[in-house]
Amino acid sequence: MISGEGRFGVGICGLGFMGRTEFVYWRQHPQARLVAVCDQEPRRRAGDWADEVGNVDAGEGQRVDMAGISSYADPDELIKDKAVDVVAVTLPTSLHVDVTVRALRAGKHVFCEKPMALTVGGCDRMIRAAEKAGRTLMVGQCIRFWPQYEVVKRIVEGGEIGAVRCVSLRRLSLPPDWSHDNWLMDASRSGGGLLDLHVHDVDFAHYLLGVPEQIDARGSRGPSGGIDHVVSTYGYPDGRYAVLEGGWTFHAPWPFEMAFTVQGQTGTLDWSSARGPDVLHYAGGDEPRRIPVSDRNGWLRELDYFAARLLADEPVARCTPRSSRTSVALALLERRSIERGRPLGVPAGLREAG
Ligand SMILES: NC(=O)c1ccc[n+]([C@@H]2O[C@H](COP(=O)([O-])OP(=O)(O)OC[C@H]3O[C@@H](n4cnc5c(N)ncnc54)[C@H](O)[C@@H]3O)[C@@H](O)[C@H]2O)c1
Repeated sequence: MISGEGRFGVGICGLGFMGRTEFVYWRQHPQARLVAVCDQEPRRRAGDWADEVGNVDAGEGQRVDMAGISSYADPDELIKDKAVDVVAVTLPTSLHVDVTVRALRAGKHVFCEKPMALTVGGCDRMIRAAEKAGRTLMVGQCIRFWPQYEVVKRIVEGGEIGAVRCVSLRRLSLPPDWSHDNWLMDASRSGGGLLDLHVHDVDFAHYLLGVPEQIDARGSRGPSGGIDHVVSTYGYPDGRYAVLEGGWTFHAPWPFEMAFTVQGQTGTLDWSSARGPDVLHYAGGDEPRRIPVSDRNGWLRELDYFAARLLADEPVARCTPRSSRTSVALALLERRSIERGRPLGVPAGLREAG
């Protein structure tokens, strides 16, 4: 499945905010070789990251040594590179489908950033290409692997807070200003805050509770020209419900916040990134129990998972392409509910697919 000495060759397409995060990860992975990078900007692919905004410090004073790493301007050239077994697609979302499909057809495995695509049809093309090629495809819905959210999944499934009644998920931000060519502020390329940011909570909601029966959403357009703020309610046939709020329409110096409250019959779990790492578990008494979490973030943990599955030659089960497709489909249903100003039933096909 993997060429050469049990170590797989990784090529990264797009050296922006997420591509640089993945660069640092793969360069240090003991069973991978970072063999190729691609970016249309010569400075980025030459390793001159001095002026970049990002979520990682690559070390080396942000001047990265690219010795031994092939460098391309065009994703197709990277895809042709025989040393590349795995293509990391960290390009603007509007490019995910075409680059992923071409990489899969060339026999590569693909780790593609979220959101999977801008349309459900695009997701379907990616899934079909992976199935036809018999190659692994995983989409980076990293919140499934974010330590605090892993705690929620474990505690809820272990029955420790009883049957869940209501889940509240929040993700609020300033408009992001780092993207190449400002593509994030162009809804035709990013899907707006709805698909780019809020999709994280859409994904976690159905991962935790299943696909809802009904969605009722309200939202507004913002600087991307698309839906940049949304509040939606998910309803389940057994009376459970979730309230999701996401958006990047807030004003400086608003601090990025992700947060959840999960109310069960016998206890409540609560966390906000604004408060610190521990999840609080309220179950009676004077003080909540503090649940400490790993300090290894979800971006690294999802790649740990992906790499382990590849090395074991096992399919990805915890974050399947079909479930990432469901996240896109649900976010787009929210958009339709906003546009129509009324609740919408979730098609049975989507509920069955999970
Ligand atoms: N998982 C997360 O939490 C998370 C966070 C941020 C971004 N993302 C996702 O990661 C993806 C990339 O976002 P980003 O913030 O890194 O964007 P970015 O603008 O910082 O980086 C994109 C890079 O792609 C390059 N590029 C664009 N078009 C190209 C082309 N045709 N050929 C070669 N290179 C090209 C740009 O030069 C740039 O370096 C998006 O899908 C985004 O939604 C995920």
